Amino acid sequence: MTSRTATRRASPHSHLWIMGVAGIAIGAGILVFLPKLKVVSASLILFAGFHVVGAIVILASAWTVGLRRVVRRLNSRVDGTRVDFGWGPGWMNGLAIAALIVGAGALALQLTAPALWPLGWAAVASAVVLLTGNLIMNGFRRRDQVVLPMVDLLRGDRDVVLDAGCGAGRTTIALSRILKYGHVVAVDRFDAGYIDDGGRALLERNLALTGLSDRVTVETADLIRLPFDDGDFDSAVSTHVYDHLGRDKQRGLDEVHRVLKPGGRFLMAVWVPGWAMFAVANLLSLFLTSKSAWREMAARAGFRLIDEGMFNNAWFVLLEKTVNPPETAV
Ligand SMILES: C[S@@+](CC[C@H](N)C(=O)[O-])C[C@H]1O[C@@H](n2cnc3c(N)ncnc32)[C@H](O)[C@@H]1O
Repeated sequence: MTSRTATRRASPHSHLWIMGVAGIAIGAGILVFLPKLKVVSASLILFAGFHVVGAIVILASAWTVGLRRVVRRLNSRVDGTRVDFGWGPGWMNGLAIAALIVGAGALALQLTAPALWPLGWAAVASAVVLLTGNLIMNGFRRRDQVVLPMVDLLRGDRDVVLDAGCGAGRTTIALSRILKYGHVVAVDRFDAGYIDDGGRALLERNLALTGLSDRVTVETADLIRLPFDDGDFDSAVSTHVYDHLGRDKQRGLDEVHRVLKPGGRFLMAVWVPGWAMFAVANLLSLFLTSKSAWREMAARAGFRLIDEGMFNNAWFVLLEKTVNPPETAV
């Protein structure tokens, strides 16, 4: 297996702090201005309620921007024994913050301009959708071991497996626990703004804590330019990564296909358009790559589809590198 240098690119999620700062400003508005409304100050419940909502929005947004890092550092001094996947709260808990903001706005509108009730109810409906999206996001970032669907991925217990876009190691740990005699190569750019410090330090710490460091090699690399030779891997896995590749999805699939041995399998989980994603990303979900487009790209890369289904509200697909050239792939 050869190693090439990884190219660093700006994280696509480095704008998260803007949302955090906007949240703090809006929370301050809810806390300072809404309780001043006559109808609100006349009611103890409303007066206290808007203060509480404003304070929660400010705290949650501050948590997103940096408070979380401070607490994590203090906490790790107290308890350095827990596996930590470093999921930054970002736009995940951001949906719940947005639901609170929209809900408070709907109530303020109803109190001050009851004639605009259709707008108020539309806002309530949006708040419910946002809250549902937040619940779904919590399914994606499960911390337990139920992170991979039960499919026929491995060729044997000595497989060398690529974990493409490993983050802080949820799937790496799940895989290397099964692969007692095999090896996992965990690859990532380690620059995602939504994983604390990009994830590499956490991954290494998590592997040490779980006693799995010997079974895993960690590489910093870009998935569209993998630093490995053709056919280096028996199998590959990737959860919630290839949908982050923008226009490079086909290149990413071509690369994983290249580094697999003929007959090697690739398990990929991605977000696809649907009701769950509508709750999470609303109109943006319509721009997600559809299942049929993924199937076409996979076939173009030279994969045969073995299995597919839904898992934790994401779509998974099990692909196999055909021994024949791409044009004969199904
Ligand atoms: C949502 S996280 C998923 C992490 C892990 N697979 C999991 O399910 O917990 C997406 C990961 O993909 C990585 N990633 C995105 N684009 C990448 C690229 N072009 N090359 C390498 N890693 C990439 C990010 O750095 C991030 O760690």
